[in-house]
Amino acid sequence: MKKILVTGGAGYIGSHTVVELAQAGYEPIIIDNFSNSQESALAGIQAILGREVPCHRIDCGDAEALRQVFKAEGTIDGVIHFAAFKAVGESVQKPLAYFHNNVGSLVTLLQVMQEVGATNLVFSSSCTVYGVPDALPVTEATPTKPANSPYGRTKQMCEDIVHDAAAAPDNKVHTILLRYFNPIGAHDSAKIGELPLGVPNNLVPFITQTAAGIREKLTINGDDYDTPDGTNVRDYIHVVDLAKAHIAAVQRLLDRKASEVVETFNVGTGHGNTVLEVVQTFEKASGQKLNYSIGPRRPGDVPAIYADATKAAEVLGFKTTTSLYDSLASAWKWQQTLGK
Ligand code: UD1
Repeated sequence: MKKILVTGGAGYIGSHTVVELAQAGYEPIIIDNFSNSQESALAGIQAILGREVPCHRIDCGDAEALRQVFKAEGTIDGVIHFAAFKAVGESVQKPLAYFHNNVGSLVTLLQVMQEVGATNLVFSSSCTVYGVPDALPVTEATPTKPANSPYGRTKQMCEDIVHDAAAAPDNKVHTILLRYFNPIGAHDSAKIGELPLGVPNNLVPFITQTAAGIREKLTINGDDYDTPDGTNVRDYIHVVDLAKAHIAAVQRLLDRKASEVVETFNVGTGHGNTVLEVVQTFEKASGQKLNYSIGPRRPGDVPAIYADATKAAEVLGFKTTTSLYDSLASAWKWQQTLGK
């Protein structure tokens, strides 16, 4: 079995990817410092798989601790690097913490990978690297624009670091950069899902918490954008679909099929939905009436963005299969499980 190290493996996307890796016949090994994830994710993974997945409780920015993990685990066939801070608003409050954690941990990881001879990396990037795009949908060739937040800047810097490291004469690491659109929903089993700490920043957990009575109402961030109903357009991808894109990327790296030492893929559905469409679809999928009102625009929001998903389909053989309705139904099922 091929061993895949998953940094941030107890987090939202990480935990779903660990499950998909194990079910696809890989041996996932988790690294997590639990700064923004919870031990209960490990129990959820175990409940789904019927066995424990090994977890090293270390910080990915700690080079010596990382070296010890590589030493203890023997040959690591691939690394998927999720571990990072991800809240746009918080990154404006604590920019240095974001640069230190997101950029620092990637640099440390790459250095240790070079040292120990680990050669395959999948990196969590984001559609935020496109900034406010001139045309939609965005392809991987769409030029990146200045990021709207320190968080976005860390993703751009990390992509640059990967390219620069790959161009060095002694480089042996092959990387696939996956640019995620908006991941939502939870595992079918409702044993793992998103676990936001405090008040959620993201739309879907805010919706499910409002429907569950934890929040009084959802405020929609503006309805005067140049979009079909005036609210922002995003490409919402089910988290299990997104997890499966990582399996395809890992396999491509292991098969040495990549045409370049660094390859980039959009991972989205290829469809845009407005915030109001998400709210209406949630109401149908959950049978709940949602309390919401229209508020002002949120600073930093891109009016509209969705993926051209052609390259991932053609090159990775990756296609999403879960509808917005089913994604939101899974988010609601997970919220109800949390309530209990
Ligand atoms: C942002 C980042 C994305 C990052 C993600 C991680 C940008 C452009 N995008 O996604 O790269 O990976 O956060 O957290 O920086 N909304 C409301 N009311 C709410 C919450 C959200 O109307 O209470 C709206 C937002 O204005 C937006 C949509 O819902 O139009 C989605 O918002 P959110 O879930 O926060 O994700 P993004 O901002 O798209």
